[in-house]
Amino acid sequence: MSGSHNLSRRDFTKAVMTFVGAVMGAVVGIPVAGYLVSPAVKAQKTDAWVTIGPLDDYTAGQPALFSFTRAKVNGWEKTVNSYGVYVVRAEGDAVKVLSNACTHLGCRVTWQQDQNAYTCPCHDARFGRDGEVLSGPPPRALDGYETRVENGTLSIRLLE
Ligand code: FES
Repeated sequence: MSGSHNLSRRDFTKAVMTFVGAVMGAVVGIPVAGYLVSPAVKAQKTDAWVTIGPLDDYTAGQPALFSFTRAKVNGWEKTVNSYGVYVVRAEGDAVKVLSNACTHLGCRVTWQQDQNAYTCPCHDARFGRDGEVLSGPPPRALDGYETRVENGTLSIRLLE
């Protein structure tokens, strides 16, 4: 008696091969998919101390520019960002470090000793020695960084 409920040898082999193929696909495919996708969904946060150098290299009352780059890996994308900061040393170990990015639209400010101010070339803004807004459209003072001096070496905390 051959009913529709009986499996032929061919159908049985086909079902077993399909099952084995699916298991092998999962065994190989799931780790590969995880490898490809996981970096893209990992959020990377930068919280690092950047060494600026010996504090004694900076003259009190004279803002000095320090530039550096940082590489950031976000998933499969790697970007290199450039930073510029002004080190403003007071007497002793007192120091302030300011970003050179204008708080209006992000143009780079430059310290002008003869004007005793940082000037922004984009919309003629001016900031005082400690970063306060003197004139122009910026909504706030230049951003400052948290600083640390250990064994005479200045570092800043970079947060992104
Ligand atoms: S970007 Fe500096 S004043 Fe507009």
